[in-house]
Amino acid sequence: MRVTYYGHACFEVQTMGVRLLFDPFITPNPLANHIRLENMSADYILLSHGHVDHVADAAELARQTNATLISNWEICAWFERQGITKTHGMNHGGAMAFPFGIVKYVYAQHSSSLPDGSYGGNPGGFIIDSKEGVFYYSGDTALMTDMKLIGESFQLKFAALPIGNNFTMGYEDAAKAAAFVNVKEVLGLHYDTFPPIKIDRHAAATHFQQAGLHLHLPAIGEAVSL
Ligand code: NI
Ligand code: MN
Repeated sequence: MRVTYYGHACFEVQTMGVRLLFDPFITPNPLANHIRLENMSADYILLSHGHVDHVADAAELARQTNATLISNWEICAWFERQGITKTHGMNHGGAMAFPFGIVKYVYAQHSSSLPDGSYGGNPGGFIIDSKEGVFYYSGDTALMTDMKLIGESFQLKFAALPIGNNFTMGYEDAAKAAAFVNVKEVLGLHYDTFPPIKIDRHAAATHFQQAGLHLHLPAIGEAVSL
């Protein structure tokens, strides 16, 4: 699957002929100045939780692309109040079949208020099970033993995990998470955007390598095949 990194926790996966865009935070991200929102396209926009560094550009992109917004019920209701009508609300443990594959909304250990202080439901992550392969995006989360259930139930091609520490797992815990979900290929997210989450990329990559894992840290705007 072709995976494009757009900075912070935003990435796009192309699978089964559709573009799935996760957690768009582009215009407020100084590291993503070279990415033009108006050039982006998406068929589905998936939001893990309500924090502004995950939803900042979601309304604008939903209007621009006419993509369907998938998130928890509370976040979808919040966007509906802003005039975004193509939404699909879910809750933890629930799975739904879409034309590109099955989406399961799974638990994350984090928080989830919306930018205006509204209740954002509980934070989550996604498992996408398409004919081209299965992948897991954990969303912002701590390491948790629940991840072992994902490893038991799915044969993942790759996982997208936060590695920046302070607000989420650091890379050491992310490597443990990779073992819990039984995956070797990891796309690193949620690092370097703000001072508290600056990482040593080389140390992170080396740590993964020593654990028999591969940490992918593409440049912002770069695509990798996973
Ligand atoms: Ni967050
Ligand atoms: Mn975040």
